[in-house]
Amino acid sequence: MEKVLVTGAAGQLGTELTQQLTEVYGTEAVIASDINPKAKATFPYCRFVVLDVMDRERLRKCIKEENVTQVYHLAAVLSASAEKKPLLSWRVNMDSLLHLLELAREFNLNKLFWPSSIAVFGPDSPKIQTPQQAAKEPVTAYGIAKLAGERWCAYYHQQYGVDVRSLRFPGLIGYKALPGGGTTDYAVAIFHQALAGKSFRSFLRKDTRLPMMYMPDAIKASLALMQAPKDRISIRSSYNLAAMSFSPEELYQGILPYFPEFNITYEPDYRQTIADGWPQSIDDLEARRDWDWSPDYELPAMIQEILQELPKWIQHKKSDL
Ligand code: SER
Repeated sequence: MEKVLVTGAAGQLGTELTQQLTEVYGTEAVIASDINPKAKATFPYCRFVVLDVMDRERLRKCIKEENVTQVYHLAAVLSASAEKKPLLSWRVNMDSLLHLLELAREFNLNKLFWPSSIAVFGPDSPKIQTPQQAAKEPVTAYGIAKLAGERWCAYYHQQYGVDVRSLRFPGLIGYKALPGGGTTDYAVAIFHQALAGKSFRSFLRKDTRLPMMYMPDAIKASLALMQAPKDRISIRSSYNLAAMSFSPEELYQGILPYFPEFNITYEPDYRQTIADGWPQSIDDLEARRDWDWSPDYELPAMIQEILQELPKWIQHKKSDL
């Protein structure tokens, strides 16, 4: 029987992926963990433990005592937060991954999932349809750690046979958790402002196109990758992954028909520099080829669904308080 541990489960990806994992493996088989004890309330449907991924011994104890067979290691400091505390972000993002790669080896885990990011690319990488193997010279603290992490994943696979699998996520957009320090998180925050009848101040320029993905596609990709037979996984660093690309202005224009009074202003800040170093679109040929990846959502369908579901989610959260 599989026993699945999710770190950083209360983050944007974890909130939705953990629920989906309980549907695949059963509620008994999934343990959600997060550094924030209050996150327990997010997981009424499965076990929850407080876990700091920097604490290798606690992680080790949890994996050993719970007979964990798979880990989804989602705890991370995202790009914008990382620029504020680069050395701390390096330690959190790298040390925790190395802890888990070591523990995967020690306990012979069946599988380890670790998200990488489009942030591995840098200003000199091709911007359009960036290929898997394009030059990577990231200039952000977050990107440097993700690129190093990818190399460690490939290393642990090659040297020790650790079955670690990874995706280079584009900006992920979900409505079931609040933004968490990412550069692409403006595309989550904008929906909250529109619904609240407030105007939105974008910290990116209006024409800043970035690769993005709606959360259900991110969940689908994660599970497809993790469930693919070993011999279909040809990339052990991290797979390019794509769904859609848009700019703040394009997203705003997509929301406008639903809220004709909605207003946006543009005040680019330090996050503009982060975004300027990233690709505008991604070529995910290898994911399509190796494990039949294809996304379900384009921008209009995502906007429609979020605007339909987010008010219910907000109402639900209020009634929980
Ligand atoms: N969406 C992430 C961020 O903006 C990139 O991986 O930090």
